[in-house]
Amino acid sequence: MSEDDTTRLNPSKLGTKKYWEDFYALEKSNFEENPEDTGECWFSDSDAELKMVDFLFDNMDSLGKQNGDIKICDLGTGNGHLIFTLREEGFKGKLVGLDYSENSVAFCKEILKEQHDGDDKMVFEKCDILNDDEAIFEMGKDEDKFDVVLDKGTLDAIALSDSRYKDDKLGVELYPSNVKRLLRKDGILLISSCNFTENELVKIIESEQEFKKWKCVEYPSFEFGGVKGQTICTIAFKKTIV
Ligand SMILES: C[S@@+](CC[C@H](N)C(=O)[O-])C[C@H]1O[C@@H](n2cnc3c(N)ncnc32)[C@H](O)[C@@H]1O
Repeated sequence: MSEDDTTRLNPSKLGTKKYWEDFYALEKSNFEENPEDTGECWFSDSDAELKMVDFLFDNMDSLGKQNGDIKICDLGTGNGHLIFTLREEGFKGKLVGLDYSENSVAFCKEILKEQHDGDDKMVFEKCDILNDDEAIFEMGKDEDKFDVVLDKGTLDAIALSDSRYKDDKLGVELYPSNVKRLLRKDGILLISSCNFTENELVKIIESEQEFKKWKCVEYPSFEFGGVKGQTICTIAFKKTIV
């Protein structure tokens, strides 16, 4: 990446694991005091969560499976809000929430126990998507992999870190190839970002050649100084090769 590459962001505390550990420790303790407080829903001002859920229901047929057979992963699940909403909105398949924050996973498991007890098709696991040694990468056969990977704000957080990984890559550079390993052929990565424009997001994800932009979710756009823009983008990418 060159210095003026707009997909490279300045590091911030939101790019650190400590920030998210502290964040979900606080959300968990708030929930323990008030069971109605299940925490922050990121990008709720843009209705991103419902738009992602609607997109999945509208495009379920193209996954070639029945509702109950579809396997979805929410990457960087935080407080699991997206997973719980999918279930509440009628998604019947397996839902796996992954996050590198132990407090996030503990918090999600607590909500699961308190509010969705007995639903063994919802699972939360600790996993760092940038760590090649995670067990989740050993799913074996293509048909055992996820049909859909969701990301709401996780790549945004990853892009705010200057940590280096395999082959000296930044997280934002390693992300597409590691996410690809979670998906079956023709599986979908549905990703929402407020840090990147549509063009930037396409550039990042399609740096992994097996990903091709498939569809975009529409949001209201604003115009300022003759330039059109929007505060968030949600794009679906299809993994084209096994
Ligand atoms: C902006 S929050 C979004 C949380 C959730 N998706 C939502 O919409 O509420 C970013 C999330 O990404 C998680 N995260 C950041 N880097 C990660 C990584 N390398 N692997 C897995 N999760 C990560 C953080 O712990 C945090 O839960």
